[in-house]
Amino acid sequence: MGMLDLDIMKRYIRMCSDGWNQGWHERNGGNLTYRLTDEEVASMKPFFDAEPRPWVDMGVTGANLAGSYFISTGSGKFFRNVELDPEDSLCVVEIDDKGQCYRIRWGLVNGGRPTSEFPSHFMNHSVRVAATNGACRVIYHAHPANLIAMTYVLPLTDRDFSRALWKSATECPVVFPGGVGVVPWMVPGGADIALATCEKMKTFDAAVWAQHGLFVSGPDFDITFGLMHTIEKSAQIWILAHSTGLKELQTIEDDSLRAIARDFGVQLREEFLD
Ligand code: 13P
Ligand code: ZN
Repeated sequence: MGMLDLDIMKRYIRMCSDGWNQGWHERNGGNLTYRLTDEEVASMKPFFDAEPRPWVDMGVTGANLAGSYFISTGSGKFFRNVELDPEDSLCVVEIDDKGQCYRIRWGLVNGGRPTSEFPSHFMNHSVRVAATNGACRVIYHAHPANLIAMTYVLPLTDRDFSRALWKSATECPVVFPGGVGVVPWMVPGGADIALATCEKMKTFDAAVWAQHGLFVSGPDFDITFGLMHTIEKSAQIWILAHSTGLKELQTIEDDSLRAIARDFGVQLREEFLD
């Protein structure tokens, strides 16, 4: 029995492979973090390094995550390689008792650090944990091509993107009734994009990063991967329909969106409807 035999590691690695197979992770693109349960941390402790690595200041604070542990992809690591060599590609980090610093307890055996987007992931875990009464455990960032393409031709507003995505496939309003937030183009990897994304994630579980990708959150791997997948599929349909160059003859009308919400028992963000 080793670290990689643990069910949680297997499920995390499977999600990395699934994302790679979808074509969302060119080179080192994208990153994934998972907030471990106390039981999962206990099951991992026998496999932690004898000596923890030094504390690193994150430049952001999430007091409600003090003492928690995360699995993270490594910065500059390729999703393509995670399944082949998890010990080189992944790490488990511990957060200090102030929610300001992390230290590596396992993984990244050839050196390195958690994803450069760790400040964004960490702050957004903090916001989503608060917004969901502790249910949120997964933050996932990927570079899905169709959604990125949409950010060149649609106004960069929450309303425009939410409406376009809801209307591109009938089940979308059921999967993300709250819509999506949109963050304008920003330099990746720092505290600024982390804070701008946090503002959106207070009320959305998905945030588009203009000309960059998508950031999603959820309670488990299935729901979070499914959210990324559904949004990108909808974006693909939007791009395909617009690429025909033909005039749109019909769409899903706003009252049809309301009818879906009524029958499926979800609450659509009313201010996004006409
Ligand atoms: P990392 O390799 O540091 O995770 O960065 C990839 C990325 O997508 C940055 O936004
Ligand atoms: Zn990215």
